[in-house]
Amino acid sequence: MIRETELSVRDFIYPLFVCEGEQVKREVKSMPGVFQYSLDMLDSELCELESLGIAAVLLFGLPSHKDECGSQAYDENGIVQRAVRQIRADHPKLFVITDVCMCEYTSHGHCGKLTPSGDVDNDATLQWLAAEALSHAQAGANMVAPSDMMDGHVAAIRQALDQGGFSNVGIMSYSTKYASGFYGPFRDAADSAPAHGDRRSYQMDPANREEGVRMAEIDIAQGADMVMVKPALAYLDVLRDVRERLHFPTVAYNVSGEYSMVKAAAQNGWIDEKRVVLELLLSIKRAGACMIITYHAKEAARWLSEVD
Ligand code: PBG
Ligand code: ZN
Repeated sequence: MIRETELSVRDFIYPLFVCEGEQVKREVKSMPGVFQYSLDMLDSELCELESLGIAAVLLFGLPSHKDECGSQAYDENGIVQRAVRQIRADHPKLFVITDVCMCEYTSHGHCGKLTPSGDVDNDATLQWLAAEALSHAQAGANMVAPSDMMDGHVAAIRQALDQGGFSNVGIMSYSTKYASGFYGPFRDAADSAPAHGDRRSYQMDPANREEGVRMAEIDIAQGADMVMVKPALAYLDVLRDVRERLHFPTVAYNVSGEYSMVKAAAQNGWIDEKRVVLELLLSIKRAGACMIITYHAKEAARWLSEVD
């Protein structure tokens, strides 16, 4: 009766990796229980999510071909665009969010356009991101989630969506995204590791707490409907700050490395997996998250539905 925080399956957003090809259901080595799916194999997964009560998915695409300008990112027949059309047609009640970034589509693996000297060109990248978000909206996405960390991205995307007649498509901005070692397994899952250098010039310094709030504030001013703190567990203080100081819907991304650490310890019998996962997810909620993007969503949904 005096419990302050409640964890519910409605809090979860489940990441999905979609790839080209047929009959593909490939487990990500560093993420046991997480798979890449070709579109013909996606349906049973979606049915399972719906039967568990998971209401929202976050889509990531693995294109068959990458180039300097990441052209598959904004192609109307790109893998994510086709996945969105399929999901919206077959599972109209699922809320479909798409990750908007260039790193899965560029041959160099960076999140934006490169200058001749190899730096990321922030302003030139904005039109690619706007085109990518617009193509996702045209395919039927309910919300787009830019994870690129370019300055001005939310404004550029909002303008493109509005001009395209998609004023009802929301923006969940990865506003407060730190340059983190915890993204390692994801780069296997999405095949998006940078070929040279790292992402420190556009992602945030883990030492900065105030800046985390400022970044969220800037994205809200540009028209974001939700902001995000990522990773979650090592940044619960920032999550609390953003939520308490900005009073805005704040999502936490419980990232790949956080998932894989728990899985590895559980597989070794070193921790009680169910207990630890539910405790971690509850801590994210308690810190101020209104929703949690997590690879644990399916198992947590099952555990939450058990009567104890
Ligand atoms: C792409 C992107 C990344 C993640 C989400 N979108 C990787 C990165 O920025 O390197 C990380 C998700 C995770 O680790 O689970 N920009
Ligand atoms: Zn990226």
